[in-house]
Amino acid sequence: MSAVKRETFGSRSAVILTMAGSAIGLGNIWRFPYMVGEHGGGAFIVLYIIATLLISLPVFVAEATLGRRSRTSAYGAMARLAPGKPFWKSAGILAVIIPTVIASYYSVIGGWSLEYLFQSATAAFVRNDPERVSALFGSFISSPFRPVAMHLLFLAACAYIVGRGVKSGIERFSKITIPILFVLIVAIAVYSISLPGARAGVAYLVRPDFSQLTARSFAFAMGQSFYSLSLGMGAIITYGSYVSREENLLVSSAGTAVSDLLFAILAGFAIMPAVFAAGIEPGAGPGLVFQSIPYVFSVMGEHLPVISTIVSVVFFVAIIVAAMTSLISLLEVGVSYLVERHGVRRPRACMLLFLVCGGVGVLCSLSFGPLAGMKIAGLSLFDLLDWLSSNILLPVLAFLVVIFVGRVLKREDLCEELSYAHPGNARLFGVVYFLIKWVAPIAVALLFVTNFIL
Ligand code: PHE
Repeated sequence: MSAVKRETFGSRSAVILTMAGSAIGLGNIWRFPYMVGEHGGGAFIVLYIIATLLISLPVFVAEATLGRRSRTSAYGAMARLAPGKPFWKSAGILAVIIPTVIASYYSVIGGWSLEYLFQSATAAFVRNDPERVSALFGSFISSPFRPVAMHLLFLAACAYIVGRGVKSGIERFSKITIPILFVLIVAIAVYSISLPGARAGVAYLVRPDFSQLTARSFAFAMGQSFYSLSLGMGAIITYGSYVSREENLLVSSAGTAVSDLLFAILAGFAIMPAVFAAGIEPGAGPGLVFQSIPYVFSVMGEHLPVISTIVSVVFFVAIIVAAMTSLISLLEVGVSYLVERHGVRRPRACMLLFLVCGGVGVLCSLSFGPLAGMKIAGLSLFDLLDWLSSNILLPVLAFLVVIFVGRVLKREDLCEELSYAHPGNARLFGVVYFLIKWVAPIAVALLFVTNFIL
């Protein structure tokens, strides 16, 4: 180990805001609303809430505890607590590779948001007719230069913040931006609900139609909730390692999960009513944010160009900030590994990650255009990485973590870690432990299997 002194987050609100920064991201604004649209509206939200509270939250506690107890990067966390067991050492390798891969293509989507911010700010959506606006997406992502440049710009900004340090970079950025993000999303939701014809969208969200749910919806709700809470990627283990021993991890984990849940639901209300108001299909899939929403701005812009331009700028600023704080947490996993394991200086570690994720991301971006013909197992590089990481690697790592925390770590040690400064937690411990030891592994294993058979 190098002699670098470990930083810790400054306060409870700093812990929650930084962790919420990781959790709240494209998963909430981009993925959640289209999943809701594809899986029966409000009914999916109900499932999602149950999955978050019963399964993802305990796994979150497991990851954060693992980080705090080991006080080291995601790579070394399990190896340090189970010395001499090579299996857990190799699990640590996964915990560094997965987030770095995800960071590469996450940054490509971040780059798209940046482009859309420029488009909104120049009133491109308002000036063009709706059909052209939604067609813009396909031609933009397949072009060879602009999306690549945007991806690199986006990544560089995030790497820069990570380079400033845990407290003065990551914590500070999240403390400023996450509260603003909540204000922005509420403002957009209010606007969206006030549009003529938005009622149907609100009804869609609040009136659950359980007949639409299938076994697949369960798997999707759980997978989405894992993704949204940044689980199975080493990010929460890493952030957990910066939480002081005095902090009540149960409270800060619950605070993070609730903020993330709330934000996802607010994002649903920001997007669905507007989508209904513009008369578009709610189940439009991944194109929802980059095609349907600009379409909405274009339709609204015919009558109210100024307001529409302002709201569109606010909307893409919100997406960018949300995506940045998540990408930052993904980069930090690799950075903390390089700093602690190899004694690399933080700014240099950020530079290295920029080069690796930048390179992989460029290939991902090009896989929509010039490299579209290059398919691996029938998928483009972008789709392959997305599929591999969310459907295979993420559940595998999450499974390993819950097995480790629930079965390799001693029950007393875990209880001590959670209740040492907060004896009251010992009373809740039985429930948390049961969820981590039994419910979570079974649920994650089922999720993994369902991904294959459904
Ligand atoms: N939770 C983030 C989101 O909702 C994605 C993410 C996953 C970030 C894993 C970090 C680690 O967009």
